[in-house]
Amino acid sequence: MTLAFIGGTGLTRMDNLDITGRQAISTRWGEPSAPVVSGRLAGQPVLFLARHGDPHVLLPHQVNYRANLAALKQAGASAVIAVNAVGGITSAAQSGVIVCPDQIIDYTHGRETTYFDERDGPVTHVDFSWPFDAVLRERLCRALAACDASRVDSGCYGATQGPRLETAAEIARMERDGCDIVGMTGMPEAVLARELQLPYAMLSLVVNPAAGKSDTEITMAEIEAVIHAGMGKVCEVLSALVAD
Ligand code: HPA
Repeated sequence: MTLAFIGGTGLTRMDNLDITGRQAISTRWGEPSAPVVSGRLAGQPVLFLARHGDPHVLLPHQVNYRANLAALKQAGASAVIAVNAVGGITSAAQSGVIVCPDQIIDYTHGRETTYFDERDGPVTHVDFSWPFDAVLRERLCRALAACDASRVDSGCYGATQGPRLETAAEIARMERDGCDIVGMTGMPEAVLARELQLPYAMLSLVVNPAAGKSDTEITMAEIEAVIHAGMGKVCEVLSALVAD
């Protein structure tokens, strides 16, 4: 199995990855956000892709998710672990906690959400009842525990359009819907992986209380401070997962 990691905000490069190559890959869907990096993590071959480009220039709605997933598949990935920064909605999702979600709700719009959009192609509706791969999630939860990370082993990720943050009312609605965390990149990434039959799971680092969940304004400085502290732990968890 060749695991691929998609790094989001705060994870444009993985410090503990021993890089062996970089491939600029073209796909039928266009160019991915960055070259696909090959390397070794805990002695195992892995792939890495910076979701927002390297350097980070693409906003969540500007990412070519179809090209990113297709490029990883072309490069030989057999499973994908996506890392992202999120806002915390429910009380367990405090800043600094790493969540391994088991459900997703899509609030995005206007994005390319399928590979099956050709008129003469097959009519295909993939099963997406359980959007994340159970075996990968189990491995991630084991690695989180082994690294003694502040963690929540399940939860619902709400994917919003961005790039603005949400209103307090939108977050209240998302909480009523059952969302625990909120981010801008989980969809359509998760469903495209499913369409390509790539097992996919997510590690979400909570970097701020979501809108209306604290008395103060959400600032980039606050987010960056938590990212700085938390992404090192995420890399440690990924290394433990690969070594297991
Ligand atoms: N909302 C949406 N996406 C995010 C947030 C948030 O509060 N924090 C980090 N990514």
